Amino acid sequence: MNTAFLKNEILKTGISLDIIYFEETESTNLTAKNFLAENPSADNTLILTSNQTAGKGRFDRKWYSEPGANLTFTLIKKLNLSVDEIQLVNFYTSYILYTTLKEIFISNKEMNFMLKWPNDILLNNKKLSGILLELKNIETPVKTFIIGCGVNVNQTVFDKSLPQNITSLKYESGLKSERETILLSFIKNFFEKTGLLKDGKELIRNWKICSDIAGKKIMFKKFSDDIPETAIAEDISPDGALCLRNEKGILKKYYSGEITLSV
Ligand code: BTN
Repeated sequence: MNTAFLKNEILKTGISLDIIYFEETESTNLTAKNFLAENPSADNTLILTSNQTAGKGRFDRKWYSEPGANLTFTLIKKLNLSVDEIQLVNFYTSYILYTTLKEIFISNKEMNFMLKWPNDILLNNKKLSGILLELKNIETPVKTFIIGCGVNVNQTVFDKSLPQNITSLKYESGLKSERETILLSFIKNFFEKTGLLKDGKELIRNWKICSDIAGKKIMFKKFSDDIPETAIAEDISPDGALCLRNEKGILKKYYSGEITLSV
């Protein structure tokens, strides 16, 4: 990872961001939390590694990433958001990552990116990127968000035993991408558009346009019981909840869980 290039380019943008790079670390989210324990006032700090040895995913799952091939990073960001607005950070981050990748691959019509509730990015219907959002100081107006992002960039061999259908930018495009360029564009977009976090309705409206869920039959699993249910995804509400109509015709809102498309 060319961190000198990254730091230099960030400096040119005027964005104040501390970049802390590790050749290897267990999990950038864990490293970020350890860093915050020592430096509680840390903000605008990017923890980055080329080799994440024990990456964490949602639902206590593991996140595997080939050493040196992909992007695995965590952004520490303090935001003045109410408890009801916390979810918006998931939507905001995935939306920014999605738009960044769309911009980069704008001329490649074979690269079909899509957002999947609540914060995944799919490429050609396979999982490309995941986000693990953690939080400190939930009780104070300014909260510390630990935003962990994994993007499969240049990995082309995936463990067949993994439950999900996974892909990477290189697997779909045949071309190697510069991880630094993607990360730089993401950071620029992230810091430029934070105003969207203050307009949840607009954010969700934009997010929905980039997902393809409305009206689809899906399979849904709650975090609490992991039992799959079939339902129709009717909408995503302005506060980010997934609105599902179950087989009995009852409409319910869910704030966490996981969906599988096309059942
Ligand atoms: C998921 O889809 O389940 C979320 C995956 C999040 C993975 C990223 S990689 C960088 C950061 N550090 C971690 O341990 N996890 C997140």
